[in-house]
Amino acid sequence: MSEKMVKKKEKQNSLSRKTKTVRVPTAQTVDVDPWGKALVQDYSRLIKNFGMQKFDVDAMPNPSLQMKRGIIFGGQDLNVIAEAIRKKKRFYCLTGIMPSAEKIHLGTAAVVDNVRYFQEQGAETFVLIADVESQATRGVPIEEGKRRALEFHIPAYIALGLDPKKTKFYFQSENKVVSNLASVCSQKITENEFRAIYGSVHPSKVMAAFTQLGDILQPQLGEPMPGVIPVGIDQAPHIRMSRDVARRLRSEYGFFLPSASYNKYTSALDGSFKMSKNESVGKLEIPEKDRTAMEKNLKKALTGGRVTADEQKKKGGNPEKCVAFEYCKNHFIKDDKPLAEMYQDCLSGKNLCGECKQKYLITYANKFYDDFDKKFVKARKTIGKIKFLK
Ligand code: TRP
Repeated sequence: MSEKMVKKKEKQNSLSRKTKTVRVPTAQTVDVDPWGKALVQDYSRLIKNFGMQKFDVDAMPNPSLQMKRGIIFGGQDLNVIAEAIRKKKRFYCLTGIMPSAEKIHLGTAAVVDNVRYFQEQGAETFVLIADVESQATRGVPIEEGKRRALEFHIPAYIALGLDPKKTKFYFQSENKVVSNLASVCSQKITENEFRAIYGSVHPSKVMAAFTQLGDILQPQLGEPMPGVIPVGIDQAPHIRMSRDVARRLRSEYGFFLPSASYNKYTSALDGSFKMSKNESVGKLEIPEKDRTAMEKNLKKALTGGRVTADEQKKKGGNPEKCVAFEYCKNHFIKDDKPLAEMYQDCLSGKNLCGECKQKYLITYANKFYDDFDKKFVKARKTIGKIKFLK
């Protein structure tokens, strides 16, 4: 073959010459990766790229405290859910628990609070233990996942506000309806589509993602109804794929496209964006058994303070840049009055950061954890009564 012909052939074979450059999505190029550590820096870009809507607190009936305080930044078709609430129509709310560690994030607690809100607004509520996902993506044996869920996660979710009498619980590994539906869903997505959404077609991710699709759509078998999946933003790819698949299965099953609410990440105490599941620095979890260590950790939280005490007294601090304030607002202080005081006394320079942390962050974190511990002990006693869906 002449050199010219080789060149010509190369040109024909190349995807990138005539058409636009084709980039294979990878975990580095997708916006969020449910199993990775991708950091989201720009929520407005996400809203655009994922076809989300900005969360509109005024459109939700009886919005929760966290909704009012802006922890949810986006949603998908939440107007459908708002209407179901107003007209008292059937709808469901579903969330999943990864039993991969015997602790949960503060960010997860915020998601549970959303589930509690939808449950109180009348949602049929499903909570599943993602033991298949934990086995596939983190190597946690099914039996171990089950043990952790029974001893810790389920009572923890109840302690955080779910009503066990009104919640349907199940284990992914025990639910045939879910695994059968997962296999139906797997027919409706191509390899390239999967890669474009997740940045990878690793077998364990494929396994976990389709099981999760089975979870999300399963309440609609029989009688389709709207449903809302409250998630942290790392779960957005699953919502996206579940909506694509629900659309493709619509003529056969009559599915509604699942709605979703999206929570912001909780910053690490040092102000870095995501509270990582893997690093121990700046991490705050539930429970916090060693309170002395917790307090030490909290004292290191990044603040919006000035360089010198004098300057701060004169000019005041910046609560908007303060992680201590963010934690109090999003997690620890439920009452508006002390929160407003914390804010004002920072702005006016009345409180320096050290005093403020002691007076608000540490005091209210301890209250939060005391309350959790008390409710957790009570919740553990109710576990035996739960009947799991099969
Ligand atoms: N993947 C979720 C997590 O990492 C757990 C999960 C499994 C889930 N199935 C779900 C969440 C269905 C919401 C809906 O935490």
